[in-house]
Amino acid sequence: MANDNLEKIRLTSWQHVREAFRSKELRQAGYSEGAVVMADTLLDLHGIEHRERRRLENRLFRREIFSYWEHEILGKTIDATLGPFIAEGSGDLSVIGYRCAMNLTATIAGIDQDPRDADQTERLYAIVKKFSEGATLLHSTRDKDEVRQEVIEAMDTFKEDFYNPSRSKRIELIHKFNSERLDEKDLPKDVLTTLLRNTDRLALPEEVTFREICFYLQAGAHSTANAFTHTVDDLFAWGETSPEDLELARSDLAFVQRCMHESLRLHPASPVAMRTPLSDIELSDGTLLPSGSEVTLDLLAANQDETAFGTTARLYDPHRYVSEGIARWGMSFGAGSHACVGAELDGGLEIDENRPSEQALYGTVAIMVHAFLSAGGQRDPARPPLLDPNSERKHFSSYPVLFVN
Ligand code: HEM
Repeated sequence: MANDNLEKIRLTSWQHVREAFRSKELRQAGYSEGAVVMADTLLDLHGIEHRERRRLENRLFRREIFSYWEHEILGKTIDATLGPFIAEGSGDLSVIGYRCAMNLTATIAGIDQDPRDADQTERLYAIVKKFSEGATLLHSTRDKDEVRQEVIEAMDTFKEDFYNPSRSKRIELIHKFNSERLDEKDLPKDVLTTLLRNTDRLALPEEVTFREICFYLQAGAHSTANAFTHTVDDLFAWGETSPEDLELARSDLAFVQRCMHESLRLHPASPVAMRTPLSDIELSDGTLLPSGSEVTLDLLAANQDETAFGTTARLYDPHRYVSEGIARWGMSFGAGSHACVGAELDGGLEIDENRPSEQALYGTVAIMVHAFLSAGGQRDPARPPLLDPNSERKHFSSYPVLFVN
């Protein structure tokens, strides 16, 4: 643990990060700068307000719904997104990743758009990228008011072009359902419909519902795309010394899931989470987190802690042995009350030979990666991937790929 001064504390060990995530006395922090898009969203709430909203939204993130999602929605959306690239015989991995992730996340959030319409997806993605910039304003080096103004403009465009039409359609369907002209099973299974049906019960102001949808879009799209690109990139690198594993991944979805969990551990989409103690807190080894201090939970470091993942913790190894009680993906989906609601949707359920195969959940990212690999996706040998020089993290500015079958 590095402690710059009494007020700013960075937790880097597995045990510290785990305890901090689970403490009810640590409040979510880090989003007040980005309030323009984050205020009163699920991630920003605490205590009873958080519990009530979470209980409601959780209804959508149940295993039966995931199963419906994996079997009915996912394949069609991936096919529509990937198809044009396969037909072309080439593409860019990050473009493929974010288009797929954007289309899928829009469906979960309840924003209607056609996955075959690449221009529409690009427009939505540009908007959602701006939302992410707003949400992470605390870490921005740009002029904050300028960013806020851009976020407001992106929100206005989103409201007019995407949100309002999707909302009107859902309100109409809910009316039909309330007057018994529509069966409940025919209502959309998405966050917006869930919130609109419960507006009165939760006393949700319309602007909060709107921000919640903006937040969902950025929470889901960015992290899914990030996990997709890293899973493929790590597999290509691993395949240089273990070509049989890369071949296996082209046909074996359960193995891809394992690779995805390993990549997620090493490249968490959100490398840090921020909290502030509501009272003085003592962790089990006596470490003190004073009331009101700024606590950074370093997920990237905790995921490479040798006490949890052994002496090879820093290395990529999809075959690694992981002890009972430790998730293969480390802390990348968070833990405790704010643990990611999309964890099983994106990461699936760890494949268990004792679970009936019809109950298996591979997770959205593994299915995306498997679709890409089984279509013959490979690096373009003539054009190596390029890293984004403006990012401290491993972000690709371009990653040319070919489809060879
Ligand atoms: C690989 C993909 C993903 C990763 C790595 C990821 C990571 C995380 C993390 C670390 C948190 C906790 C943040 C904190 O405690 O401060 C979180 C929360 C959350 N995530 Fe995800 N996420 C992913 C996918 C998704 C998807 C697909 C959705 C929904 C469409 C989603 C929706 C949410 C929501 C709503 C929360 C807030 C939960 C709460 O505050 O109770 N995430 N995610």
